[in-house]
Amino acid sequence: MEFLIPSRTARPGDDPIFSLNAAATKRAQSGEDIVNATIGALLSDDGRLAIMPTVAESLSTLPFETVASYAPIPGREDYRKAIIDDLLGPYGLTENATCVATPGGTGALRIAFEDFLEPGQTALTSSYFWAPYRTIADESGRKVATYDLFDAAGRFNSTDFEKKLDELMAAQGRALILLNTPCHNPTGYSLDQTELDAAATVLLQHAARGPITLVLDVAYGYFHPEALDRCIATFTKLADRVLVVFAWSGSKAFALYGQRVGALVALCPDEAQRTRIGNAITFSCRGLWSNCNAAGMAAVARILADPILRVKVLQERALLVELLAKRVAFWNEHASAAGLKYPRYDGGFFTTVFSAEPAKLSQALAARGLFLVPTAGAVRVAVCAVNEAQIARIVEGLRAVGA
Ligand SMILES: Cc1ncc(COP(=O)(O)O)c(C=O)c1O
Repeated sequence: MEFLIPSRTARPGDDPIFSLNAAATKRAQSGEDIVNATIGALLSDDGRLAIMPTVAESLSTLPFETVASYAPIPGREDYRKAIIDDLLGPYGLTENATCVATPGGTGALRIAFEDFLEPGQTALTSSYFWAPYRTIADESGRKVATYDLFDAAGRFNSTDFEKKLDELMAAQGRALILLNTPCHNPTGYSLDQTELDAAATVLLQHAARGPITLVLDVAYGYFHPEALDRCIATFTKLADRVLVVFAWSGSKAFALYGQRVGALVALCPDEAQRTRIGNAITFSCRGLWSNCNAAGMAAVARILADPILRVKVLQERALLVELLAKRVAFWNEHASAAGLKYPRYDGGFFTTVFSAEPAKLSQALAARGLFLVPTAGAVRVAVCAVNEAQIARIVEGLRAVGA
């Protein structure tokens, strides 16, 4: 007898990225000199997890009662306030926001699917998207459609974005859009001001037709502060016509991946509606995971509230941004000299090399000890996880297998 419901019987048990990482690790452990550019965590040049000492100290010196206690369902109040201040303080918009703590940015995305899209409906994101978007949608009984991220000139394709949004509004009368900028995963692309303006124009064009929720997935935002700034400045101006929601993540921002620190922040100027949204997202927390990691939340709240710790963390993060920026520059120099085809890349954990046969390419590279994740139309290079010598090997490998 089959106990699973029919839609769950063919579920893959392994996440493709984590299983490729496991294969790479296994070969490394057997003594092979492999390059593992699969995992989205920033590693130092010697291959160890890059951490922020002040974050480590803030976490490890918490009173055990704080660590062991339940956190409130929507998250600690000081934490929620700190995240809202951090994102929206510079724009004077903190009074218009409501926020719940979530297990990473992943949790915020899950709530967005639950509360801003009906079951069975379809969210919109770009081609080349972070594969778990589809997993999260599927798990909550929703779907994902895509617009072409790039036009013929390799720039944000606002024409296709508009076409797909138009189709969705006609079909379902509402839309949930996932926009991952800056430092898009997997391409590394960050929308420039002209592209942001084009996206905003499209949103306004359709806003009167029904509710549009724009989820800004800013998981990598602190690794490109100027691009994050222009993104927030552009879209917060739409807040009276489009619901702007942030999927905020502490994983990369505080190099604190395993603590599962995240938040959903919704910007809604109308007080009554904001209260309803706050209630709905809190209810979702209770129904999905009850409450989040008390220790991670307390550590981040402590840092953001204390001016000295805050500055120390900013300095430590700046070192990580610089580490990554050097690799990005190294990649750009060598990959362009090798004639590899990849999108504009000026920061972030990943870039992609376009390929008509990504699975084949990834296998050919693995045979050479180079592990890169295949994704639709490209292979993803986790620049965050490799040093310059390894980047040089990846570039050479890609060139050799005809990428
Ligand atoms: C594009 C994107 N969004 C969101 C996340 C969520 O990360 P977390 O749940 O660790 O905060 C990730 C993590 O890799 C990501 O790449």
